[in-house]
Order: sequence, then C-alpha cells, then structure tokens
Amino acid sequence: MTEYVTGFGNHFSTEAVPGALPIGRNSPQQVPFGLYAEQLSGTAFTAPRAENRRSWLYRLRPTANHPPLKPYDGAPLLRSAPFDEVPPSPNRLRWDPLPLPEKPTDFLDGLTSYGGNGQVGEQGIGIHLYAANRSMAHRAFQNADGELLIVPQQGALRIVTELGVLDVAPLQIALIPRGLRFRVEVDGPTRGYVCENYGHPFRLPDLGPIGSNGLANPRDFETPVAAFEDEDVATEIVQKFSGALWTTMIDHSPFDVVAWHGNLAPCRYDLTRFNTINTVSFDHPDPSIFTVLTSPSETPGTANCDFVIFPPRWMVAEQTFRPPWFHRNVMSEYMGLITGAYDAKAGGFAPGGASLHNRMSGHGPDRASYEQAIAADLKPHKIEDTMAFMFESSRVIRPTRWATETPLAQLDYDDCWAGFTKARLPE
Ligand SMILES: [Fe+2]
Repeated sequence: MTEYVTGFGNHFSTEAVPGALPIGRNSPQQVPFGLYAEQLSGTAFTAPRAENRRSWLYRLRPTANHPPLKPYDGAPLLRSAPFDEVPPSPNRLRWDPLPLPEKPTDFLDGLTSYGGNGQVGEQGIGIHLYAANRSMAHRAFQNADGELLIVPQQGALRIVTELGVLDVAPLQIALIPRGLRFRVEVDGPTRGYVCENYGHPFRLPDLGPIGSNGLANPRDFETPVAAFEDEDVATEIVQKFSGALWTTMIDHSPFDVVAWHGNLAPCRYDLTRFNTINTVSFDHPDPSIFTVLTSPSETPGTANCDFVIFPPRWMVAEQTFRPPWFHRNVMSEYMGLITGAYDAKAGGFAPGGASLHNRMSGHGPDRASYEQAIAADLKPHKIEDTMAFMFESSRVIRPTRWATETPLAQLDYDDCWAGFTKARLPE
C-alpha cells in the first residue's frame, strides 16, 4: 500500500528512514548515514520562483556512478520529433484499438508512437500508446526529452520511481517528471496512452472567472512518499536522449533514494475527482472548459499541449445542439477513449482507439450523432460511464509512418460525415 502526500507542485519533504533528510541545508558536509545529496533540476536554475522546479535526493549511491551508454535497439516503434518520416496529412485519421501484445513485452518496448510535433526536448509533444503484458524487471527508463503523462486505459500500473511508488489504474493518470528514473510493473495485459511533453511542464490551468475552485483541484494530486530499494542487483538503465535510446548497466537498483524534498516529483490524479463545469443555460462551451492540465507555450493562452477530458456529466442546455459542434480549429486534436462511448460519435471510436483532427481539418459529430441530436427531446440527460480525452496542441500533429500504414487505420473514417442533406432555404 503506497502512501501519498497531496497537492500539485507543492514543496514536499519525505524520508523513508527517520533522520535521513538533512535539516536546514540541502548539501551538508556529511549527509546522514553517508547518503549522497543530488539535485534534480526540472527547470533552469534561474527560472523565476513561480516556475522553478527542482528536488534534492538523498541516495545510497550517486547517479553519476555508471559506465558509458551504448545505443539501445528495443522499443522498435518509439519515435520522437521531428516526426518527418511521412508528409503530414490534412486528412482526418482514426485508428482501431492497439492490440495487446502476443509476445512478452514490457512498457518500454511496448511503446508505439502515433505522432507528434515540435523539437524534441524543447517544445512540442510526442504521442504514444503502450501495450504490455510483463513488468520491467531489473531495468529502468529515464527520459531526458520530456515529462510523461501516462493515461492507463486497460490494466493497472505500478510505477516505481526514484521518489516513490505510484499505483495507477484506468481513470487515473500519472505524471513523471523529465529525467526521473522509473520502471513499470503490470499484472496482465495493459494498454494506455502517453503524452510526452517536450515543452514547459504541465500545470493546472488558470481558472479566471470560474474562481478559486473547480476543474482539477490541487489537493487531489497525490505524490508518493519516499521509498527505496537496497538491492545490489544488475540493473539496466535505458535513457531516451534527443530522440534516441541508450542503455547501460549498473550493479544496483537505481531506486535507492532514501529521502527527498522539493517540488519536482511524480504524481497521480483520479480523473473521477474532476469538478466538471459546463453550461446551465444554452450552447456548448469550448472543450477547454474540461482542461485538467496545460503545458503553456511562449504565446499566452495558446498551449503547447492541453490535456482535456470528457467525463460523465449532465447535459441540460436548452434549445441547443448538445453534442460538440462542427468546427475547424487552429489547434490540432488527438483523442483517445479510456472507457465507454464519446457523445459525438455513434461508432468506430473504441476504447484503446484514437483519432487525429489536425489544424483546420473540418470535423465534428458524425451524421448519426447529428441526426439524433437535432431530434432529441431536450430533457436533462446524464452522459454516464464514459471517459474520453484529448491532447490538444498548438502545432500540427505529424503522424508516424506506422500510424499511416498500420491496418488499424480506418480508411473509411471520412464516411461518417458523408450524406448530410443540404439545408433548405425558403423559396
Ligand atoms: Fe475538435
């Protein structure tokens, strides 16, 4: 049973052994028990205080203690920016669910990239799904290119990190800071989505006129307390660096941080705790009303990536077309489905599947959903047993070669918007 402390981006202090955490200074001449003090910086040292993210780790051995890294040849379908394998397409794309693996596959080797944008490690995102059926045993992953937002869709994950252990099930998410080592343990077939955020770390969105409460509340984010392994066992470290994977071996568990303090830490969040806000009069608000986390860009109000969910909610709008409207968006939208059905699609968008509506591509409700919505009796109605989400980015999301060539791609996706009858003007 993992213990957690609560709050988003708080300055936490935690020790797995009483007395391990130095008091009053970060780097004393002699750290308690001979532990090694090590800072993990998630922002530049000189980032403004409100943006600054770093933690101090007190560990059995320093991370620097490792032999040279060599190229790693696993994870054959993992890709990074610039995502230029195939030309970007203006076509609407949708995929059937990613199959669960038949061969033994762990989280790392089971990553499949659908697309992304930007510049690796600097700005933009990578979008991946994982499909795994075995735990990472005696190996850890460290990603220098971005933080990882993990969205389980099937099967629970135990994510062992340097700073503690996260248990994350479907309808929960995990956020793993850039550079933090972790391994993923599974109990049977598991699948889910990953947003690799190359840009500014995810944060809670400003609430504006909503006020001081609502959407994802800070205290519902949970960070694990310090937990460590004192194991002298050969362990592989796989590092992602500027888009390539590297590997090395160390002779001990890298999860040997006995105590830590700081505000750069992994966390989990239960999506069912999202305080869903929507209209109580008319019209359908922009989906940004459902933003859980946002990674800002250099342009105010224009996200490198928004993580948006579509949770169970009451629909009460009067004299309104209630599903999402037809639209073309300067932002690019990648959607996934954790469970249930999405209210703008009558079929074809399944849990574990995905869709991509890129910049200025016309999309919206399919014809069946449209016909149903304009004929609906507008009583209060609750959409239940559903959880879709969107990674929405200010840059075009460029698909990978795999994503364009896989038989999972639905070549007939356009058909869901075919056959709309022409509007009739008065004679
Ligand atoms: Fe959209």
